[in-house]
Amino acid sequence: MAQKRILLIIGGGIAAYKSLFLIRELAGRGIKSRVIITKGGTQFVTPLSAASLSGDTVYTDLWDLTAEAEMGHIELSRSADLIVVAPATADIMAKATQGIAGDLATTTLLATDKPVLYAPAMNVRMYEHPATQRNMAQLKSDGALFVGPDAGEMACGEFGEGRMAEPAAIADAIEAALNAAPRPLTGRRVVITAGPTREPIDPVRYLSNHSSGKQGYAIAEALEELGAHVTLISGPTALQTPDGVTRVDIETAQQMMDAVERALPADIFLGVAAVADWRPAQNGKVKIKKSGGGASDLKLVENPDILKSVCDHVKRPELVIGFAAETNDVLDHAKAKLARKGCDWIMANDVSGDVMGGDHNTMIWVTKDATEMWPKMRKADAAHRLSKKIAEYFE
Ligand code: CTP
Repeated sequence: MAQKRILLIIGGGIAAYKSLFLIRELAGRGIKSRVIITKGGTQFVTPLSAASLSGDTVYTDLWDLTAEAEMGHIELSRSADLIVVAPATADIMAKATQGIAGDLATTTLLATDKPVLYAPAMNVRMYEHPATQRNMAQLKSDGALFVGPDAGEMACGEFGEGRMAEPAAIADAIEAALNAAPRPLTGRRVVITAGPTREPIDPVRYLSNHSSGKQGYAIAEALEELGAHVTLISGPTALQTPDGVTRVDIETAQQMMDAVERALPADIFLGVAAVADWRPAQNGKVKIKKSGGGASDLKLVENPDILKSVCDHVKRPELVIGFAAETNDVLDHAKAKLARKGCDWIMANDVSGDVMGGDHNTMIWVTKDATEMWPKMRKADAAHRLSKKIAEYFE
């Protein structure tokens, strides 16, 4: 934990005194605090107390030229690993929700690219008010973290939820947030195709393949864990949608193509789906009868090549990754496919083993001028390895 630093915003509430204990608690855990106190906060604790405990300058005013010369407010907002708002009043959370930046604390919250942890503290009625609940839900969906509030007797004499969490509990939440896995793909948009497509022959029959969708879903999950905004365009599978992933269900290759079009622009595209290369030329409204001989002259027409269309698209994502299932001369086929489709990377998988439907995959990562053989591994592990590579590309 050494050298970790938080920026603590002390809001205007009676719980502000507990934030002084928090600074001490954090110092004992090797975490340094730099402190901003809002105008309201200075009614409850003094900058001098916070400065003595934190051993650092305390900032209170957006328009303080001395402080601004020392450290600008934008720099201040990015100088820590985490921003902690304690006590987080109804007022400060409402402003943060709306992006109102009228003072140093709210300007800092708007300017930061760091995670923010709120420790709400207010009267129970204010806490339960739909406006506060709405604001907190919005902040959560924007990625903010929360600790507390606790229930109990309040300074105002009422009883209920709204007491700020105790300093030790806030410090635990701070440590957990600082130790949380990094999310290097935050803000990146990903579009992934996965699973098979189904091409109808008549109202009851279709052409398809054995793709389970497992590899595509695992990649969607791994990229979401790294912070990416993931749209998963999926053919019919038996799989659950990974948490936080937006799933669009389609059946045919043409529908998959249309859904991809709608999901662009994106930073990253992965074509993991086993798209049917052909579809029946006629998709009749009437079931083909055995006696009529209709199936014996089934005509096929080619489906759109989704991966190639994405590569040639005016909204081409910066990184386009294709998959190539091959049974022989895997590397040569993969390199040829990379050039033909115009993508940046190809994940070539050797399907001479048990790939479709199985839980393992043996892949080769292929770019224009590099290749990397990966050993046989679980599809989830392959997904994490690929996601890490993608994150490194965007570093
Ligand atoms: N793909 C696609 N749309 C298609 C066919 C394939 O987007 N109509 C994508 C797959 O999702 C995968 C890659 O292209 O990322 C693999 O294509 P593949 O079918 O192996 O390539 P083909 O061009 O069909 O080459 P071949 O069948 O000759 O191996």
